[in-house]
Amino acid sequence: MLKGKKIVLGITGSIAAYKAAYLIRALIKKGAEVQVVITPAGKEFITPTTLSALTNKPVVSHFFSTDDGSWHSHVDLGLWADCMVVAPATAASIGKMAHGIADNMLITTYLAMKAPVFIAPAMDADMYAHPSTQRNLELLKSYGNHIIEPATGFLASTLEGKGRMEEPDEIVRQLELFFSETPFSKKKILITVGPTYEKLDPVRFLGNHSSGKMGFALAKACVMRGASVILIAGPVAMHYSHPLIERIDVESAEEMYDAAVSRFPETAVAILCAAVADFRPAQVATEKIKRDGDRPLNIELVANPDIAAALGRQKRSDQLLVGFALETDHAEANAQEKLRKKNLDLIVLNSLKDEGAGFKTDTNKITLIAASGEKKEFPLKSKQEVANDIIEEIGKRI
Ligand code: CTP
Repeated sequence: MLKGKKIVLGITGSIAAYKAAYLIRALIKKGAEVQVVITPAGKEFITPTTLSALTNKPVVSHFFSTDDGSWHSHVDLGLWADCMVVAPATAASIGKMAHGIADNMLITTYLAMKAPVFIAPAMDADMYAHPSTQRNLELLKSYGNHIIEPATGFLASTLEGKGRMEEPDEIVRQLELFFSETPFSKKKILITVGPTYEKLDPVRFLGNHSSGKMGFALAKACVMRGASVILIAGPVAMHYSHPLIERIDVESAEEMYDAAVSRFPETAVAILCAAVADFRPAQVATEKIKRDGDRPLNIELVANPDIAAALGRQKRSDQLLVGFALETDHAEANAQEKLRKKNLDLIVLNSLKDEGAGFKTDTNKITLIAASGEKKEFPLKSKQEVANDIIEEIGKRI
C-alpha cells in the first residue's frame, strides 16, 4: 500500500523528533521513498546526517544550498509527493501552517503541497489544550489536512493529558489505511450519535447519559478507511472534525428522525448508535413550569418516532442497517427481537450487566448478532477498538 509512495516528511523542533528516525525506517520498510524537510529548530533535536543516512537522500532545510547557492524548490517537492507528513508538529509550526507564515523551508513546502497532508502534533498537554492550538488545528482541518490525533485520550471528552505524538507504527497504519482500497473507499455512512433532549419548558428537558463516545469512535474508524460520514449528533460535548465528516447537530428525536430519513437514501450503511428518547412531553410549556406547593406534577408523554424502524422500512437491498441494543435482562433474546422488528442487518448488543460496558465508560464489551443468525462475542476492549471491530464486520457485508 505504501510501496513506491513518495512521502515528504516534515520534522519540527520537538523532543519527539527522535521518533522521526523510527518513522522513516518503518516507511522505508513498507517500500516508501522519504524526503525529509526539517526546520532550523528540528535540527537541534536530530541531525541531518542521521536523517539522510536513513532516507538515502540529502535533507532539505534551507531555501538555498549553503555549499553552492543552488535553489531548493519547495514547488517541485509539492508536485513530487504522494503525501506529506509533518511529524512531530510543534505548536509553533502548527500555528505557522494555519496562518501561512512561510518563514522556513518546511512551511513553504507545506503551502506548495499538492498532495494530502498529515499532521502529528507533539507538545505538552497544556500547550495542546490551549485554545490557540485547538483553533489552529481546526483551521488546518478546515483546509482538508488530516490530523493524526495525539496518542492518549481521543475518546476523552476533555483535552486533558493529550499532546504526546502518536507512535510511528500507528502513523504508518493510518497512512496505509488512507492509501488502501477498502470496502469503505468512496462509500457514505450515516451515523446517529449521542442522546436526544426532549423539551419540557424553556429551561428543562428529558434526556439521558449517552456521551456519544461510541458513535465518534465509529465515525473515526469509517473515515480512516476512506468512507465519508454523515454524523447526526444529539447534544454531545465531543468534537472530532475531519474533512470526510459532515456533522449535523440536532437536539430532539424528531429532528434526528428528519435528518436521518432525508439523508439515508444517499448512504450505503446507517449505524444507529444514538440513545434516542422513546418519549417526549406531549406539551412543551411556553413558560417555565412553576411548582405548586407539594402537589405532584404529572407530565404526559407521547411516543417519539423510531428512527431505526423507519430506516428499516425505507432500506434498499444495497443498503446495510446496523443498530445497537443496551439491555439489562434477557439481553440476547431482546436484541434478536429488535433486529427482527426494526429490519436491521446487524445489531450490536451491550449488556449493562457487563462491567466496563455502557454509558460514559471508555471501554465496551459487545456481542454482534446478524440477521442471518450469525453471532460473534468480543472481549472487553477500548471503545475505539470495539468501533474498529464493528466496522471490520460491516466491511465484510458491503
Ligand atoms: N432507536 C432509534 N430511534 C428510536 C429508538 C431507538 O433509532 N426512537 C435505535 C437506537 O439507536 C438503537 C436501536 O434503535 O440502534 C435500539 O434502541 P433501544 O432504545 O434499545 O430500542 P427500543 O426500540 O427503544 O427498545 P426499548 O424498549 O428497549 O427502549
